[in-house]
Amino acid sequence: MTAQPQTTPKLDGLLDLTGRVALVTGGGQGVGAATARMLAGLGAAVAVNDFHADRADRVAASIRDSGGEAYGVQADVSHAAGVRAMVAAVGRELGPVDILVNNAGNAGAHHDPLAPRPPFWESDPADWDPWVAVNYTGVMLATHAVVGGMVERSHGRIVTVISDAGRVGEADLVVYSGAKAGAAGFTRGVAKAVARHGVTANCVALGAVRTPSLAGMLDDPQVAKRVTRAYPVGRLGEPEDPAALIAFLASDAAAWITAQTYPVNGGYSVAQ
Ligand SMILES: NC(=O)c1ccc[n+]([C@@H]2O[C@H](COP(=O)([O-])OP(=O)(O)OC[C@H]3O[C@@H](n4cnc5c(N)ncnc54)[C@H](O)[C@@H]3O)[C@@H](O)[C@H]2O)c1
Repeated sequence: MTAQPQTTPKLDGLLDLTGRVALVTGGGQGVGAATARMLAGLGAAVAVNDFHADRADRVAASIRDSGGEAYGVQADVSHAAGVRAMVAAVGRELGPVDILVNNAGNAGAHHDPLAPRPPFWESDPADWDPWVAVNYTGVMLATHAVVGGMVERSHGRIVTVISDAGRVGEADLVVYSGAKAGAAGFTRGVAKAVARHGVTANCVALGAVRTPSLAGMLDDPQVAKRVTRAYPVGRLGEPEDPAALIAFLASDAAAWITAQTYPVNGGYSVAQ
């Protein structure tokens, strides 16, 4: 019997996103901006969404300056009509969305996630809305707006950015923890609904990542040192840390991975 010639698998070929259209929500800074750049670097045409048009346009322009294809698109992901208009505009500008990264989060576009909060039992239910709107409703709306097209075309990738707060719970981020856990449950449900159609849906769960939203806290060296102690690798995350996993999950290399949540957290918590 003659041995069959072995072909060497090429991971870089599977990671190539040339011809794909990606939409990254909240891509105007932080993790979303790093993700948009990473996807563009792998060849995707990237729609950079943000509530703040100037942020989206700046990131899109920086991608184009580096030779990539990108389009800045303003929308509030927590408003259904705006999300539909955004997806239609991306379709006209770049083509139908193959990759959705549900990244917009924290306390939404109008609220400071670091603003002092009372204990949950003293909170006003009206204060919960911004957290739920962007971290849960926004994920459902953006997914709803693109997933039907993905099913029709028999290909799609959805990656939802949650937080370790949604996996393990954070005492001072109770509503955020619930909204992120809801987004993860929703993403699992969608994953199973579309699994037979070539569409995958997964979550990445982040620990503390150095982004503008946390700068007010982490720029204080004492606070940064205290927070870092909870991270076995001895440093906080950089936006490129989750962006790399998001890009992998968005690629053809991850075709058999769906309905999962992957922590990117320097060992802060452990998934088993
Ligand atoms: N930075 C962290 O340590 C950390 C930790 C855990 C999870 N996360 C999650 O990672 C994601 C990115 O975090 P980040 O720190 O890079 O965020 P960020 O707050 O620095 O940036 C988010 C961007 O999203 C935009 N945005 C907010 N609400 C929006 C809306 N309704 N519609 C459209 N755009 C909107 C903002 O304008 C901003 O430019 C979020 O989902 C966040 O909850 C972050």
